[in-house]
Amino acid sequence: MKRILHVVGARPNYMKIAPLVREMSNYPRDFTQVLLHTGQHYDDNMSKIFFDELEMPRPDINLEVGSGTHAEQTAQVMLRFEPVLADFNPDWVVVPGDVNSTLAFALVAVKLGIRIAHIEAGLRSFDRTMPEEINRLLTDQIADLLFTTAPEARENLAREGIAPEKIHFVGNTMIDTLVRLIPIAERRWPALRSELNLDRYVLVTLHRPANVDEAGDLAEVISALNEVSSEVPVVFPVHPRTRARISEFGIQIDQGLTLTDPIGYVDFLALQAHATVVVTDSGGIQEETTFLGVPCLTVRPNTERPVTLSHGTNRLINKERTAIVEAIRTALMGPPGAKSSRPELWDGKASERIVRVFRKVAG
Ligand code: UD1
Repeated sequence: MKRILHVVGARPNYMKIAPLVREMSNYPRDFTQVLLHTGQHYDDNMSKIFFDELEMPRPDINLEVGSGTHAEQTAQVMLRFEPVLADFNPDWVVVPGDVNSTLAFALVAVKLGIRIAHIEAGLRSFDRTMPEEINRLLTDQIADLLFTTAPEARENLAREGIAPEKIHFVGNTMIDTLVRLIPIAERRWPALRSELNLDRYVLVTLHRPANVDEAGDLAEVISALNEVSSEVPVVFPVHPRTRARISEFGIQIDQGLTLTDPIGYVDFLALQAHATVVVTDSGGIQEETTFLGVPCLTVRPNTERPVTLSHGTNRLINKERTAIVEAIRTALMGPPGAKSSRPELWDGKASERIVRVFRKVAG
């Protein structure tokens, strides 16, 4: 029997851990599982709705760390996590992705001699100004099992001196969730479409500090969206950070640009699947649009997910107004759908592969 502690902190973690919790629960004689939430994301529409829709068990423990600077978030998670870890004494701590909580948990676990499994290991943007890149690099250095989503991750890890036997190329657990829930999203689509009165449309998400924290940058991106929205509706579910900046900087929103609160997983999946083009700075959305074959424009100078460029529908674009407008117009003129081949092992079975590895490893 292995004692497994899964940890989640922020929105993109939930869809990566949910299918693994589900798959492990098929083997009650092999695994005891506990689910812990840091509370880094705490609004209902950044957290609760995802647990409901993904049918995840409620977290057994919530550390309620909330928002703060990077140091505050990391320190709070570490302080509150240490006694929990000592109490439950798991064989493995499973950490997904690259958010601040991912690294905070890994640091506490390694110091207590508890083994760490990192889901989505080995992704690199090679841009150390991104907090996520630091979280990824350091977590991978101290992880004992590294589950990767793409072949180049192994090369990245090998360059950093990670022993090959720790690395397992299993596919993408976020795509496991997509594969399971896309039929429900499709059933939800007709109602959503008529509620938002949509035919062809651009779907937008933006939340990276590099795009939204400077008034000039954010104004530039929004003015591009305003311009496009006179030709085609633009739907923009707004992250709380971005919402705060738009109002702080007094940025004007035109009529064709619809700002909504953050949207739950299933509705957002339906909106992605039917979008004419998606504009984003998220990591996960580059992957989901690749799988769905929907054109994606990523407002970033780099990506830690190059497989979405080589196999998928993703293109990197500059954050200048004219570049964004031109890229969206070009995508709108293209044929419906986009050329995409699904990356290797993105087949809905990554969690099964991970569980096979766990059942084999000792202890
Ligand atoms: C975090 C991750 C990022 C991920 C993103 C997904 C890090 C370093 N970044 O960024 O990789 O792509 O989550 O959403 O971990 N806020 C609320 N309610 C909430 C959560 C946040 O109002 O439920 C507001 C707070 O004002 C907070 C701000 O959003 O200060 C930013 O939240 P934070 O957790 O610091 O980082 P994200 O930008 O969400």
